[in-house]
Amino acid sequence: MKTIIYYFTGTGNSLAAAKVICARLGDCELVSIPALAGSPAEIIPSADRIGIVCPVYDFGLPSIVAEFAQKLDLSGTGYCFAVLTMGGMGGSALHQLNDIIQKHGGRSLDASFTVRMPGNFVPLYNPPQGKKREEILAKGQKRIEEIAGMIDRGLIVRPGISPLTSLLKHFTYAGFIKYRCLCMQSLA
Ligand SMILES: Cc1cc2nc3c(=O)[nH]c(=O)nc-3n(C[C@H](O)[C@H](O)[C@H](O)COP(=O)(O)O)c2cc1C
Repeated sequence: MKTIIYYFTGTGNSLAAAKVICARLGDCELVSIPALAGSPAEIIPSADRIGIVCPVYDFGLPSIVAEFAQKLDLSGTGYCFAVLTMGGMGGSALHQLNDIIQKHGGRSLDASFTVRMPGNFVPLYNPPQGKKREEILAKGQKRIEEIAGMIDRGLIVRPGISPLTSLLKHFTYAGFIKYRCLCMQSLA
């Protein structure tokens, strides 16, 4: 079965996860989401199995991923999964992605997962170092291999409930996206 994994990564955690999953699934193509940013309105993947792999940003999706997902037509896709890497709290981002896919993609996510990786939000904290980082990476690697196995078996895994991160997202995400837009405008 052919698989396409669409990925976005800032510092490499999500790309590393996407590579492990791709290697496990075989006949798999990795496609960068930023490379598709200028694409026309609709993206219809030519594969039976589709994945989206990206980080959690402010308890939600990076805006580039949210915009990409709105263009994705998955009505002809057999199996669709998402894997989000995060520093520690981000289940709400899976619900956001599922909602977008339901509204625009013509179906729901079949399987959705979060993986804890080294946090990289440097304005708030320093990324973990030394033994702590090695522990997080080792656990993350194990979890990604388990996830790859579940995807390979075509398991249905709905997003778990995440009331705390949904609440935090409700109060902070819109401001985060607005601030990002203002920053982009001032850089232009
Ligand atoms: C702008 C920004 C916001 C973030 N917000 C969250 C968050 O809400 N929850 C969380 O667990 N991690 C958060 N993180 C950490 C990343 O999700 C995590 O480090 C992820 O693995 C980074 O993946 P990447 O290396 O593919 O970019 C944030 C990181 C950045 C840069």
